[in-house]
Amino acid sequence: MDSKLQAAKSLAAILPSLDESAILNLLEKPKSADLGDIAFPAFSLAKVERKAPQAIASDIAEKIDATGFSKVVATGPYVNFFLDKTTVSGQILKDVITLGADFGQSDLGQGQNVVIDLSSPNIAKPFSVGHLRSTVIGDALSNIFQKIGYKTVKVNHLGDWGKQFGLLIVAYKLWGDKAAVEANPISELLKLYVRINDEVKDHPEYDDEARAWFRKLEAGDAEALELWQWFRDESLVEFDRIYQQMNVTFDSLNGEAFYNDKMDEVVELLTEKNLLTESKGAQVVDLTKYGIEHPALIKKSDGATLYITRDIAAALYRKRHYDFAKSIYVVGQEQAAHFKQLKAVLKEMGYDWSDDITHVSFGLVTKGGAKLSTRKGNVILLEPTLQEAITRAQAQIDAKNPNLTDKEAVAHAVGVGAIKFYDLKTDRNNGYDFDLEAMVSFEGETGPYVQYAHARIQSILRKADFTPDATQAYSLDDAESWDILTLLQAFGATVQRAANNFEPSIIAKYAINLAQAFNKFYAHTRILDDSSERDSRLALAYATGLILKESLRLLGVDAPTEM
Ligand code: ARG
Repeated sequence: MDSKLQAAKSLAAILPSLDESAILNLLEKPKSADLGDIAFPAFSLAKVERKAPQAIASDIAEKIDATGFSKVVATGPYVNFFLDKTTVSGQILKDVITLGADFGQSDLGQGQNVVIDLSSPNIAKPFSVGHLRSTVIGDALSNIFQKIGYKTVKVNHLGDWGKQFGLLIVAYKLWGDKAAVEANPISELLKLYVRINDEVKDHPEYDDEARAWFRKLEAGDAEALELWQWFRDESLVEFDRIYQQMNVTFDSLNGEAFYNDKMDEVVELLTEKNLLTESKGAQVVDLTKYGIEHPALIKKSDGATLYITRDIAAALYRKRHYDFAKSIYVVGQEQAAHFKQLKAVLKEMGYDWSDDITHVSFGLVTKGGAKLSTRKGNVILLEPTLQEAITRAQAQIDAKNPNLTDKEAVAHAVGVGAIKFYDLKTDRNNGYDFDLEAMVSFEGETGPYVQYAHARIQSILRKADFTPDATQAYSLDDAESWDILTLLQAFGATVQRAANNFEPSIIAKYAINLAQAFNKFYAHTRILDDSSERDSRLALAYATGLILKESLRLLGVDAPTEM
């Protein structure tokens, strides 16, 4: 049993005025390690018992059943518990060895679904670093929620609808070249898109034509649909290459276009519920009572629907099809206002499940300290960047371990893992500077650093030809081992916290701490030397390797066994 729980149980048995969970909330970590491992402050009992906290503490220490602890003593107003490190360390190692990769798992979310809206790039536009962040954060959250028992549904809500497709059709018809688009779909389509946006200033008629084409598209016109389908297919081929490199898959590719035939229902429902008002010819929902100044624009004067109309339809569809317990949208901070509106409109429609919707926002990525800007040429093109990370990883591996077999696969795991890890270790609402050199470095708080600790452990285990045995009474009580053991014990609670806060960085930071603790242990202890503790040390190394690998897996990062 977890030692804190054990302490709470023993306390509850002799404290009639407090129950176990109240006691758990009161337990603290003593100010310093020589005072013990767990402390119970007696202050809150002073009123009820009409005694000084000091007297209560010593009374408790005298009466308590100290099973599982080496001693329980009163120090002033505190009852301090000292763990029986020999027993506890053996128990933790036994649990990890028995449960393997299932260690830290729970069934809290059993029978419940979490829908995760992630990645969601826009057709005919480059896959941006924002989409990269959404992809890696969303994918990690899916793994994290699965680990605590939820079923997850990963939806790539492709930006494949909207007036911009009208513009693109006009541009293609004016200047497009089929062969050029086929050879380089996204960059060609982007060129057309940039050009029409430029020229529309002098040719307002392009705008009218674009609106007309999008109307045709919404009405199912064959020519419009055919062009749209082609732009979409070509773009998806490019996106798929990126997803394959990143080893990310989706459960649904239902993008905005998928909701085209589900928009009438949205407008009908809003009308039925008397929520639509007219504003300059457009249909809007007023949200002032939610403290939201701008009304949600549902339908333009020409009848065209908008981004939010499609998101309302998508939310309804997801509730009906997946009956979610939680529905999360991993999208940049800049869309905070949009998701506030979305939640408010759904609430206004009477759907209480709108409370289960969370915008999991994230901060901006800069490069060389400057904001990214296609116009100013400060861009990060994803495919070449992933490739560059792999090449850099390969160079480091060549220098460190030239005889490594399977170098290419390892370089891929390290290069791509480095980019993902660097993103995920950042508190998601903070931005970061895209610095490939720092990302791929084997030093510092990086993915390769954690991967390397894992690979080092596997090499030690191979050398020792060690097989863990759950029936052995392993035991360790030195400070370095103890640091690792406390971390191992905290793994489940850490996963839980990451899920509660939709914050994969909690796992990434945990993995860094665990790798650092192991490297400290490794520097202090000659693991392979002949000693009565040799097997226990190897068991500790084994357990650490297992949880490092599992932490990386939750983040979508591979853990090579050799680097
Ligand atoms: N395609 C949008 C963009 O790139 C992101 C979509 C996010 N998901 C959503 N359901 N609105 O900005």
